[in-house]
Amino acid sequence: MNPDEKSQRYTEIAKEIAAVLDGETNLVSRMATVSNILHHAFDHYYWTGFYLVDEEKPDELTIGPYQGTLGCLRIPFDKGVCGAAAATRETRIVDDVHAFPGHIACDARSKSEIVVPVFGKSGNLIAVFDVDSDKKAMFDAADKAGLEKILCDNFS
Ligand code: SME
Repeated sequence: MNPDEKSQRYTEIAKEIAAVLDGETNLVSRMATVSNILHHAFDHYYWTGFYLVDEEKPDELTIGPYQGTLGCLRIPFDKGVCGAAAATRETRIVDDVHAFPGHIACDARSKSEIVVPVFGKSGNLIAVFDVDSDKKAMFDAADKAGLEKILCDNFS
């Protein structure tokens, strides 16, 4: 899928997500639905889901709604790609996760990933959204723009 096709697909999927979530206010229901729809919309998605900022330990992430193989339960802000995205509040794209210092290998088949911070209504970090691929270098600016828009529209 070239970047233009990807962007177009994100636009279609954003409409589908908005329609399915219409009127639903529960955060877990919304996150579960977003991870399900996105996971099944793109062939390059291998693991798809949310890590939530733990209210009891605000510098740790804990597993949230996801699709794919078993995810790690906890990620401190100073570990892994998810931790880096949470600590800096910036989207991270990693072409080769095995070359990323401190990468947490929940599933050795994951080879590249994108992690997008998720902000709540008051602008506070509530989660990160993590997508892994089983192939190297599968995420680009089209994924970043598409995911940032969907997450902003549905959680901020
Ligand atoms: N790869 C992530 C860990 C989470 S999983 O891959 C599901 C990381 O290094 O943050």
